[in-house]
Amino acid sequence: MKKRMFLDACALAVAALFSANVMAQANTFKIGLILPMTGQQASTGRQIEAAARLYMAQNGDTVAGKKIELIVKDDTTVPTVTKRLAQELVVNDKVNVLAGFGITPSALATAPIATQSKTPQVVMAAATSIITEASPYIVRTSFTLAQVSVALADWAPKNGIKTVVSLVSDYGPGIDAEKYFKERLALNGAQVIESLRVPMRNPDFAPFLQKVRDLKPDALFVFVPSGAGAAVMKQFLERGMDKAGIRLIATGDVTDDDQLNDMGDGALGVVTSHHYSAAHPSAVNKKFVAAFEKANPGMRPNFMAVGGYDGMRVIYEALRITKGVGGGDALVAAMKGQIFESPRGPMYIDAQTRDVVQNVYLRKVEKVDGKLYNVEFDVIKDVKDPGKTK
Ligand code: PHB
Repeated sequence: MKKRMFLDACALAVAALFSANVMAQANTFKIGLILPMTGQQASTGRQIEAAARLYMAQNGDTVAGKKIELIVKDDTTVPTVTKRLAQELVVNDKVNVLAGFGITPSALATAPIATQSKTPQVVMAAATSIITEASPYIVRTSFTLAQVSVALADWAPKNGIKTVVSLVSDYGPGIDAEKYFKERLALNGAQVIESLRVPMRNPDFAPFLQKVRDLKPDALFVFVPSGAGAAVMKQFLERGMDKAGIRLIATGDVTDDDQLNDMGDGALGVVTSHHYSAAHPSAVNKKFVAAFEKANPGMRPNFMAVGGYDGMRVIYEALRITKGVGGGDALVAAMKGQIFESPRGPMYIDAQTRDVVQNVYLRKVEKVDGKLYNVEFDVIKDVKDPGKTK
């Protein structure tokens, strides 16, 4: 009899524990944040994680009665690892949302998992146009290379640039930058006279820059992914390309706020187009930059950080709109059409394409209080991704 009572008590305790666990699950909203924390794009992972944690610190970790749990995983900048981690997060951890994605191949590798499991996939970094078409569960808060390259191709011919050589990383975003820049420049009566592509992994820019020197265009247009810009700038200056009369123009990935201040005065005057500068002169951005720098001493937020911060906003708001009871389809529906003021300026998630619509700024590297910044001097408002095929 004693034994029986003991066993009953045990069963009760186990059941209580089990239901507490189920309750905790039901009251938790899990975000699986997959980022390159090591490898070539490690600065992207560092920036996005810091921004996501800042958003949570500022906005609390409970939304619509659910406790937000952030699970950060390092994909080491390897797309097959991203995919495996996404699968584990969905199957084992039962995450409600997948987020992050430092490079295009990682975002694309995960798309089938988002589709099959009906899990929203919030792309905070990767920027090839095609990504949002890879799954109806993908929502993007970063930008596209097509979006920002076109603005520079409009600016250049009006500023004395008639011939350009382009130099891009040889994969999705680079190929988009090359294509949209070239087509738009031609429409404006100027020409890309040569298109050069460098390997995405560990590129040696020297032989390519030598070629540019020989071709002697009015300008060199560059896209390399965040983190690789300093190497391009260094070699451009070391080879005296600026002194040879070749202007450097680029997407803002090259004068990345994460690295810009260490590039030296040789970077002064470089004109770029992008959606975010840490020097964006709005009250919302000043507050964001100050809070980010306070929470992460020695770091300046770059465009990756803003993609992560706004991605968290989109997720929080979707959870609030769906009152904590929505599955993947309801969450994606609640992400569509969100409109708000980001540190980058006004933005919204296009309800048709699930891609970001935002201002694109022309900026010039200048010194502000002794530090190098991308200072905005012109804006093209509410730019949609020109790279959509449907
Ligand atoms: C990308 O892989 O899509 C990517 C990565 C870094 C950038 C831009 C695009 O700065």
